[in-house]
Amino acid sequence: TGGHPENAAASGTRPEGRPSKVSIVGAGAVGATTAYAMLMRGAARNVALLDINKAKVDAEVLDLQHGIQFMPQANVEGSDDVAVCAGSDVVVVTAGAKQKPGQTRMDLAGDTITLMKRILPGLLEVAPNAIYLMVTNPVDVVTYAALRFSGLPANQLFGSGTVLDSSRLRFLVAERAGVAVQNVHAYIAGEHGDSEIPLWSSATIGGIPLRDWPGVGGLSPLTDQDLERMHHEVVHSAYEIIAGKGATNYAIALAATRIVEAILDDQHTVLPVSSLLEDYDGISDVCLSVPSVVDRTGVRETIPTPMSDEERAGLRASADALRAAAQQFGV
Ligand code: LAC
Repeated sequence: TGGHPENAAASGTRPEGRPSKVSIVGAGAVGATTAYAMLMRGAARNVALLDINKAKVDAEVLDLQHGIQFMPQANVEGSDDVAVCAGSDVVVVTAGAKQKPGQTRMDLAGDTITLMKRILPGLLEVAPNAIYLMVTNPVDVVTYAALRFSGLPANQLFGSGTVLDSSRLRFLVAERAGVAVQNVHAYIAGEHGDSEIPLWSSATIGGIPLRDWPGVGGLSPLTDQDLERMHHEVVHSAYEIIAGKGATNYAIALAATRIVEAILDDQHTVLPVSSLLEDYDGISDVCLSVPSVVDRTGVRETIPTPMSDEERAGLRASADALRAAAQQFGV
């Protein structure tokens, strides 16, 4: 399963050579930017955008089509009719209410779950064999609800989870350590939200356990204060960005694109996506993020990442918070 360099640009075709198709539900800031990111990275040969607002989706598609000359070969289309998603290999769901300044992601749960109940049946009718990637927040509860409503197997429908949060963490560690982000391997696990936890005990910089990093280039080793600061910054970064520009879109779009590449290129990439756990270190019947193998089947399996007692306790607390939220919203 090797041979796929980190962040390899996808070939844009499925392993059997058929041109790939990715549909993105929701042409808001996240959905439109995800379409742009996929086209720019050549992640899919055909990209379809679906939104109930026809004027909006038509305008987004036209603006993207006008840049096609400057992208890897691809086609982009859009509609307010779910038929545009027919035959998709992957369906990325970004539709939902925007998180307002000061709002938590969980504040969006009620309306979003109602929305999923409304849009999933039509999608499943035109794209029954697609891999469904939920991005809409609160993504863990939305993923759990969508799995229940759709009846799909747990490998076929999952959430972007903490892929974005882990990217934020890796950026911060790389910046503090003075090395390229590709040489930092560190995961955030649990909820894509306030209860998420950094898995420091398995983090490495240049193959060296993070806590043993000696410091290079005149930079000192990382301290516990550094780790606490970075954890805090990851948890609060979305709030900061939303307060400043109204939404986050670039990094989540790139995270979603990276996950789609792992699916379409059958990459067997380890990514902390949100999936239904069954006896993961004793945790069951909840969707949250742990490092998992993503390939053309979706989430092939989770991997038993070693965790400290503190990290295991944090993951359980995150699972409890998410299970309570799911029950609160009747999922
Ligand atoms: C964020 C949104 C995607 O964390 O939840 O930016």
